[in-house]
This record gives sequence, structure tokens and C-alpha cells, in this order.
Amino acid sequence: KEVKLWGERFQDSVTDAVEKFSESVSYDKRLYKQDINGSRAHASMLAQQGLITAEDRDIILKGLADIERSIESGEFIWRADREDVHMNIEASLTDLIGEPAKKLHTARSRNDQVCTDVRLWCRDAIDQILRCISRLQVALVNLAIQNEGLIIPGYTHLQRAQPLLLQHLLLSYVEQLERDSGRLVDCKARMNFSPLGACALAGTGLPIDRFATSMALGFTAPLRNSVDAVSDRDFLLEFLSANSIIAIHLSRLAEEWVIWATEEFGFLIPSDAVSTGSSIMPQKKNPDPMELVRGKSARVIGDLTTLLVLCKGLPQAYNRDLQEDKEPLFDSVETIVAMLEVTTEFAQNVTFNQKRISRSLPAGHLDATTMADYLVHKGTPFRTSHDIVGKAVALSLSKECQLSELSLHELRQIDPIFEDDVYDFLGVENSIKKFCSYGSTGSDCVSEQINFWCHKLNLN
Ligand code: ARG
Repeated sequence: KEVKLWGERFQDSVTDAVEKFSESVSYDKRLYKQDINGSRAHASMLAQQGLITAEDRDIILKGLADIERSIESGEFIWRADREDVHMNIEASLTDLIGEPAKKLHTARSRNDQVCTDVRLWCRDAIDQILRCISRLQVALVNLAIQNEGLIIPGYTHLQRAQPLLLQHLLLSYVEQLERDSGRLVDCKARMNFSPLGACALAGTGLPIDRFATSMALGFTAPLRNSVDAVSDRDFLLEFLSANSIIAIHLSRLAEEWVIWATEEFGFLIPSDAVSTGSSIMPQKKNPDPMELVRGKSARVIGDLTTLLVLCKGLPQAYNRDLQEDKEPLFDSVETIVAMLEVTTEFAQNVTFNQKRISRSLPAGHLDATTMADYLVHKGTPFRTSHDIVGKAVALSLSKECQLSELSLHELRQIDPIFEDDVYDFLGVENSIKKFCSYGSTGSDCVSEQINFWCHKLNLN
């Protein structure tokens, strides 16, 4: 058995069970690139500060490059007895270049090293998620463009409410995704500070330059307090919270589309390419990808919950518990990327069943609120209008007809204020034309929104 990097004060080596239990290299090896880049910056700074010679630095840099290549070609042997990605790389650097490698860990601890690596990894992960979000936004805007003018029933409480342009609803998802991006951008800016050089927790008596490593790694500045630097995982809590909110948005969209794909609604037709069948019922065509998006949102929320609980009882500075931050982080990122990609593909592979949607529009008095607005135009106080239209709705329910099918005579019996022009406000087509408030579903407002997004997302 190899003597551990920290092994000299020990008489016995750890048991196999402890070794297996404690290792993290099986999953933190994916931080290799960040770890090597951190070491490059650190070695260069050590040389600049006269803590190692320029010659040692060059040997270290060359050795790191060789290790990077051997990892990328799959030749590198990851060893569980070397615990984690940091000690695997450092120990094999020693195997490779000998003495100079032993100087690399000058004024550095795995405690500052690991959270430097994780912050660097998160920066790239956030960029990747941002790209996925904008691809989904593009797919949704394209879907909206393809369905210009299509009116759908709008629901509150899943009960028929008022008419909407389908475009307006689709753009509501795009807005949510935009705020999701904003949260990630904020999180990245707050996260982008360097822990490197905080060492174990107290900093160091050696003359290092934390500003130099911070700058070399593209951080905004070094973290001000070394204890904070090694303690903190709030940047991960923030990141996984932002992911959870994305997951919830996607889950709601998925839920809506699953409902719309039912026989009962029949609004949405997913193509075969995004549907699956049943092993027993030959007729089935299921929207599984959307169900799984809904389902996987649970994992993303679970990852956040794991991290919240992980952090809640920890005293300040590094505790080994923190090693458990990585699996939920990786899982959250992997899952959210897959959810975004599949939702994008789904959006590219659905059509709206215009016939079914149009046929469904007469039901549910979608124009009742517009009718009340008509009475307001005539000078009736809104509460009174509400009462009057309520009576008209009751009458049309008893006659099993639409509001527009009530005669002027019948309407005037409810209230003499009705005139012939009321019919301009009735029926979903007329009703939708009346919307004019900023942000409403009126067609002018909606085409302004479409223009806004086309411009913002560089479409057409
Ligand atoms: N693998 C460890 C982690 O992920 C690295 C830091 C270990 N530090 C220590 N003092 N044991 O947290």
C-alpha cells in the first residue's frame, strides 16, 4: 500500500471500508480540468513570488499538461486509495516529475483548492444552462410564430376563464425562462470570487499573491476572508435554487402539455418522434418525455434539499461533510440540462389541433368578462355590470346557449341598458379584439411581444 500524502503521522493505514467510504474520486474526477487550471495559476504565482524557481514552475506546468492529456485520452489511472481528484493529480504529478511536484501544494490546502475547482466548474455549467434556456425560448417563440392568430380558452382553477391568443400563453413561458436566466447570471456574478490562497482556513504566512491567481483564473477578486472562503457553499445553494425554479417552470409547462394531449382536451398533438407506446395497450400514444420532465423536477428539488440539509449543522470552516456537495451539484446540472433539451425537442415536435380548439371555444362563457366591460363602457359601475352579466350567464345556462345567442329582447329584460352594439363584444373572436391594456392578450400587444423576443433572441 502507498503511504498517503498525509500519511507520516499515522502508524496504521485506513481500513478498506473507510477508504471506500471516504473516496470521492469516482465522481469528483470530473473536476480535473478546473483542478489542473487552478494548479497552473497557483504554480505560476508561486514562481512570480519567488516561492519556487521558474525552472520548477516549467517542469510543473509541463507535467500538468501531460497529466491533462493522459486524462483526456483515457490512459490516466484514477486510484480510490488517493481519495479525490486533487490528490490523484498531485500524486501522479509526483510520480511523473518527482521533487518539483512536492512544491506545488505550497500555501494551498485541499480546502481552498476544492471550492476553487467547484466555482470554476459551476461557471461553465451556468453558461451551458444559459445556452439551453435560450434554445428553449427560441423553440417556444417559433411555435408562437407558427400559430399566429390561434385563440385558445384561457383557464384559471383549470376552469374556463377568458380567451387567450395561444401566442400570448407561449410567450408567458418565455418570460419565466428569461427570469430563470437572470437568476443564473446573478448567481454566477456573486459566485465568481476566488477562494484560492485561503489555504486550510487561516491563510498563510508565505508571501503569496491571491490577486494574481484570482485574475489568472478569471475571478472578479479574491474572497476577503479566508474562513469564509473555505466554509461557504451558499453559491451552490443559490445555483441549485435557481435550477429548482427552472425545474418547477418546466414541470408546470409539462403538466399543461400532458393535459392538453389528452383525448378530453385534444389541443396538442405530439409527433411520434416524441411519444411512446404501451407494452400492452396497442392504441396508446403517451407524452412520456413531458411526464419525465415533470418527474425529474423532483430530483432537482431533491438535490437542493440535500445541500440545504448538508449545510445546516456545520460549524464554520471546512468539514468533510462538504464533500457531499458534489453529487447533488452534478446531478442537478445534468438533470436540468436534459430537461431543457428534451422540452426544446418536444416544443419542436408538437402541433396544435386548431379544429379541436376552435370547436371547444363556444363552451364556458369565455366572453362574459368582456360583456361586463361593455356595460362599463356604457357607464355602469363594474360591480353592477358583474351582477347583470351573471344573470345573462344564468339565462344562457338554462337555455344551454352562448351569451351571443341571447336575443336583444332577452338581454333588455335583464337590463334595458343593453343595445345592439353588445354583439360586438360577444363571441371569442370579438372578445379578444377588445383587449388593449399593456401586457394583455390583444393582438397588437402580442405582436409587440413577438417582435421583442425575435429581436432579443436574434430570430429572423
Ligand atoms: N475531497 C474533498 C472534498 O470534496 C476535498 C477536501 C478535503 N479536505 C480535507 N481536509 N480532507 O471536500
